[in-house]
Amino acid sequence: MTCQGIPPSHHITKDTDMADPLLFTPMALRGITLKNRVVIAPMHQYSAVKGYATDWHLMNAGRFAAGGAGLVIMESTKVERRGCGTVGDLGIWKDDFVPGLKRCAEFIRRHAAVPGIQLGHSGRKARRLRPWEGGAPLKPSAEIDDWEAWELVAPSALSAPESDPAPRALARAEIGKLVEAWGEAARRADEAGFDVLEVHGAHGYLIHEFLSPFSNRRTDDYGGSERNRMRFCIEVVEAVRAKWPQDKPLFLRLSVEDNAGWGPEQSADLARIVKDMGVDVIDCSSGGMTGSPVISAGPVGYGYQVPYAAKLRAEVGIKTMAVGLIVHADQAETILAQGQADLIAIAREVLYNPNWPMDAAQKLGVDREFTSVPSPQAYWLAKRASAVKGVVPSTFQRGIGQAR
Ligand SMILES: Cc1cc2nc3c(=O)[nH]c(=O)nc-3n(C[C@H](O)[C@H](O)[C@H](O)COP(=O)(O)O)c2cc1C
Repeated sequence: MTCQGIPPSHHITKDTDMADPLLFTPMALRGITLKNRVVIAPMHQYSAVKGYATDWHLMNAGRFAAGGAGLVIMESTKVERRGCGTVGDLGIWKDDFVPGLKRCAEFIRRHAAVPGIQLGHSGRKARRLRPWEGGAPLKPSAEIDDWEAWELVAPSALSAPESDPAPRALARAEIGKLVEAWGEAARRADEAGFDVLEVHGAHGYLIHEFLSPFSNRRTDDYGGSERNRMRFCIEVVEAVRAKWPQDKPLFLRLSVEDNAGWGPEQSADLARIVKDMGVDVIDCSSGGMTGSPVISAGPVGYGYQVPYAAKLRAEVGIKTMAVGLIVHADQAETILAQGQADLIAIAREVLYNPNWPMDAAQKLGVDREFTSVPSPQAYWLAKRASAVKGVVPSTFQRGIGQAR
């Protein structure tokens, strides 16, 4: 797979004769309509308190919704206590978590975006320091009052790197209960008012640990052949789909290539199976099995994971979401126009500019009335744009009189 470069000459300038950019074309998925194709990718906030959502989550989800995105997917929210990556992970393993999550979902919807949530389980990558604290395995401390309950579990008792504490291999008899936990989490996500649900099957976390031969050395029917390694993921999808309403879309995030034995061919095989089970979109990521979930297995540059979305879309005929260093509006539009993906997910660039969707619309020449953002902002921005000549937004150039 090569990096997805966008030719520097590719500039989209919309005039009245041109069709609306695809990025700002609504999209219907089952009973839900996204107002545009810009999706805020799930991002851990490391800010929950014992799994409960805080004001930070409300503010963060809210600013992305108010920035004009069609869909805001809240972070990997853990289906089991054992699945928490850090002390700040968001939880959905008890009904008690529903009200805090519901507050966020309602807030996103009130600001005209569709609320989504990712369900996750960190498996052997649980119980660690936050990334900026070094990300190392935690040690027992007074701060953690349920150390034993926060157990590292995985398909096999293998650590990566080897110096890390080894997880306990899940007994076959335990797996059914764990699958059920995903289903129950989906039920709670629906009760909390989310309209899109994404199963996290990527980045070296539990589902991916079952998929990849690098981390799965089981000799029972959850290990060995490709089909056996897919079994846990397939059962999770089945349990989730059973509890997730039929009119609500279901996404699955995969590390399409992990450079450790699981690759695009296997991902395509899995996508074919889950498509028939009611997965609507494959969110195409990579890596995380042997390194960081954000810096992928392959060479990193603009749109480095787009070829994975293109491959699955073309070969499986399933909708795909592209993610990974999609930074510029014209880049996102080109990915859609070339038929490489159906949705564009943005993570770090919205940390830089939470109003990225609004900004992208201006750059693609649509939404001169700023209807994608709330009225208290739209009114003033539209007025400034139409009434004040010779003033351009800060993202359009480096400074007064300085070209980009
Ligand atoms: C702060 C942060 C937290 C993240 N948390 C998650 C997460 O909860 N679930 C997930 O699947 N990916 C997570 N990711 C990965 C992003 O969703 C995305 O795939 C990755 O950052 C590449 O996209 P980008 O280049 O637009 O940042 C996170 C990334 C960042 C920067």
